[in-house]
Amino acid sequence: MPDHHDGPSLRETAEPRRLRVGAAVKLPRRGRPEPEAYWRVLGEQFDTVVAENAMKPRWTQPERGQFDFTAADPMTTFAAQHGQAVRGHTLAWHSGIPDWMKELDPQQDAIADVLRDHVHGVADRYRGRVFAWDVINEVFDKGGWRDTLWRRALGDDLLPSVFRWAHEHAPDAELFYNDYGIEKPGWKIDATLAEMRRLLDLGVPLHGVGLQCHHTVHDAPTESQLADVIGRIVDLGLKVHLTEIDIRVPTNDGPATTHYDQQAEVFGRMIRTAVAFPAMDAVLFWGFTDRHSWVPSFFEGWGDALLFDANFEPKPAYFAVREAITTRPPAG
Ligand code: XIL
Repeated sequence: MPDHHDGPSLRETAEPRRLRVGAAVKLPRRGRPEPEAYWRVLGEQFDTVVAENAMKPRWTQPERGQFDFTAADPMTTFAAQHGQAVRGHTLAWHSGIPDWMKELDPQQDAIADVLRDHVHGVADRYRGRVFAWDVINEVFDKGGWRDTLWRRALGDDLLPSVFRWAHEHAPDAELFYNDYGIEKPGWKIDATLAEMRRLLDLGVPLHGVGLQCHHTVHDAPTESQLADVIGRIVDLGLKVHLTEIDIRVPTNDGPATTHYDQQAEVFGRMIRTAVAFPAMDAVLFWGFTDRHSWVPSFFEGWGDALLFDANFEPKPAYFAVREAITTRPPAG
């Protein structure tokens, strides 16, 4: 297999094209630090990082009123040393929250105040350092609004409020709505766009939509499906980021490697389609090495969803992504 030292890195390829290329970083609360190769590839290949978990509410406010940023600190330090931007994920979500938040009682607790204080505390800590925030993640489910503590308490004020709170303490950051399953036409992107349009009409500080892009080699969007969705978001005057792309392959159906060329084709197709839109200016992978990925534990029988194998060797997908990025003309 060719070495990724043959030719430019992903970040060198993306930079002249005004595109950010990033990866989610695994930051264990305790346990062994990753091998040196992990940090070397992260620094060489990517100009943007996002914490896979460490900026979620469960990590940043483990006890009520007590913020803790120690898990993400090694990443923000690393980013500063390597000239990388930091993307923030995520201020509000129904998942990734501490037990005390799950146990809040709407009869007793001022739920909106809890959410506001959380958003303010985290956004403020990273003020001027996080260039873009996923302000709120995954509010739609099963054909409509997801039934969450936040939605029950705030109703239609949920998104207007969290975006305004985020803007108060992260005035320079680009503010994104982020979700999965909106990379193809369907009810979910329709609901998302209707809500985005409503926010814009209300004058809410909203700058973009994040498409998570967790797909299998079989169910990934076609070029025209993805272009349709991105085009509709861009038509609202919003930016698009691909925020969490990974393309999983079957791992219990012969050697996973037999699917690597098809995986490369899917990654290449999606990135090529996305980079054709100037308003799509960041692509982040949900990890970069098959050594660490959420996929095998969340999707039984699937894995190997990233660009580098478990030994940090680039897979065909790596070369396909690099090639796809070059189809975007360098900024003039
Ligand atoms: C996942 C992480 O990768 C896992 O380590 C964690 O156990 C659960 O969350 N959509 C998102 C991400 O927005 O935050 C999720 O990350 C993956 C799906």
